[in-house]
Amino acid sequence: MKSRAGESLSTREGRVHISESQQSDIIMHDIRPLRDSDREDVLEIARHTWDGHDYLPYFFDAWLTDRNSHTAAIERGGHVVALANLRVIENGRTGWMEGLRVHPDYRGQGLASILTHHVVKLAREIPVERIRYTTAVGNESSLHLGTTIGMRRKFDLAVHWQDRLDEVSWSTSVSPIMEASAKNLYPSLAEARLLPHNVVVYDWKALDLSPEALEKTAVLARFWIQSQGGRIESFSLGFAHEDPAGMQWSVTIYARNNPTFLDQLSHHLKMASENECRTIFLTYPIDYVSTFYSLDWVRPIEDEEMALTLLERVF
Ligand SMILES: CC(C)(COP(=O)(O)OP(=O)(O)OC[C@H]1O[C@@H](n2cnc3c(N)ncnc32)[C@H](O)[C@@H]1OP(=O)(O)O)[C@@H](O)C(=O)NCCC(=O)NCCS
Repeated sequence: MKSRAGESLSTREGRVHISESQQSDIIMHDIRPLRDSDREDVLEIARHTWDGHDYLPYFFDAWLTDRNSHTAAIERGGHVVALANLRVIENGRTGWMEGLRVHPDYRGQGLASILTHHVVKLAREIPVERIRYTTAVGNESSLHLGTTIGMRRKFDLAVHWQDRLDEVSWSTSVSPIMEASAKNLYPSLAEARLLPHNVVVYDWKALDLSPEALEKTAVLARFWIQSQGGRIESFSLGFAHEDPAGMQWSVTIYARNNPTFLDQLSHHLKMASENECRTIFLTYPIDYVSTFYSLDWVRPIEDEEMALTLLERVF
């Protein structure tokens, strides 16, 4: 893709107009979509991100073929050194911002900022109603970038990784947990008001709760609930996925109170074991942080505020 003043920009969705004032960065940095030949450069960046626990290698192929993904990359010396993706979801309503990465050797030069503004411009031109992303509450540059594009923090959820699950023998079960199908969960899950802003979060992604969102999430995950008197008292989703360190059980728990939270947690330790996952990645409401860390098998990660936040800007 080449872009010169007064031209249009090719995207997977066709050609979109670029205003005069928006062109200088694109010309200077020659932002272009990712292509198959960038694979090694992207893997190289992933190896240097989060100690190699980056999800990019698992999404790279899908982004290239997904017509709703609008990737953006910047090259230096013939190699991609910075990238981002805007994925249009929720029937075109939301532009999901993901995969913002800059190679460590090129950080602090404004490349993330340029890509972020480029992605916002794309989102407005597509157009989508709103943009969203999640990030860790300790990721200061990512949060700062959000404020520069008018994003607001919508809510936080606690997160936790733990390995060596085979050494954990704790379990609890106060009331039964039933597996639920996507078809039977709506509208009772919305009426239960367990999910902040009625948004389902799974593995750093978020969808407004709806029958379609549940169907979509069910492609990846299984659901479990606890009910009392016809009302859902807890809801969780879980799925196994590949991680560089082996198979990981990714789970999100929403619960009315401590016992229902702990029942779900115990259930997912069992599910992780049944699915041969030795590590778990847990997302759960901030309200249960002290309950969670009071469990003697939980290993806190020192000096880190372990939470994610959902940022949003409505256009
Ligand atoms: C986050 C990341 C993309 C930033 O890349 P970068 O090229 O260094 O970012 P930039 O140089 O464009 O700087 C971004 C902004 O953050 C600011 N910033 C950097 N560190 C900061 C900090 N500790 N606190 C507050 N702001 C900070 C910069 O000053 C800049 O703001 P400005 O343009 O208003 O001056 C990069 O560090 C990275 O790839 N990290 C790993 C993956 C990741 O965390 N991705 C984002 C969340 S998914």
